[in-house]
Amino acid sequence: MLFRQLIDAQTSTYTYLLADLSTRDAVLIDPVKGQVSLYLKLLEELELRLSHALDTHVHADHVTALGMLRDLTHCRTYIGHEGSVSCSDESLEEGMLIPFGSYGLRVRYTPGHTDDSHCFVLEGAPSKTVFTGDTLLIRGSGRTDFQNGSSSDLYNSLHNILLELDGDTQVYPGHDYQGMTVSSISEERHHNPRLQWSKEEFIRQMDSLELPNPKFIDIAVPANLQCGKS
Ligand code: FE2
Repeated sequence: MLFRQLIDAQTSTYTYLLADLSTRDAVLIDPVKGQVSLYLKLLEELELRLSHALDTHVHADHVTALGMLRDLTHCRTYIGHEGSVSCSDESLEEGMLIPFGSYGLRVRYTPGHTDDSHCFVLEGAPSKTVFTGDTLLIRGSGRTDFQNGSSSDLYNSLHNILLELDGDTQVYPGHDYQGMTVSSISEERHHNPRLQWSKEEFIRQMDSLELPNPKFIDIAVPANLQCGKS
């Protein structure tokens, strides 16, 4: 299997390219509109066919490439329907499998950061891997103060879904601002400060963060409701 972790340096967003090298089918997770030419060049050089492009949630900090990639490559696009996005081909649903060659991504519904947040568990590969979007970040988590976020839902998603995965599952987040690229479920269970709190403490801490809004929120959210095409 081919695996590439790509970064949009302006927003510290990670995009993941996965492909089955025998069938040449590829998937992009959380592609960024400003990086489309990079993705197309990579797909061409590696002789891959983009089958699917998916967003973990409606992003507030960058514009998605889903709409552009669908126009340019005819891939299928996916995003959760809770975000009221009507421009993708299909809505992400708990338990659905998005196949690429002999591999697949199993969709888990993990609301909390936003009400349309999903994580993707890789299936068919020898190593265990989960793509966590902004639900679980390395030593942190996504915020819960806009886009129908809920600290209580995020606690449940973290503890009842992600921490239920095997400890040696590799964790690939949607962002990192400290230079980290990958972690594991057991590493986060032991060292992520937000995973040490009781539910009451988690809700209290998350609801008192008072973070500034992301720089591009006024551009990104309306654009992303149109799959990045407006
Ligand atoms: Fe986010």
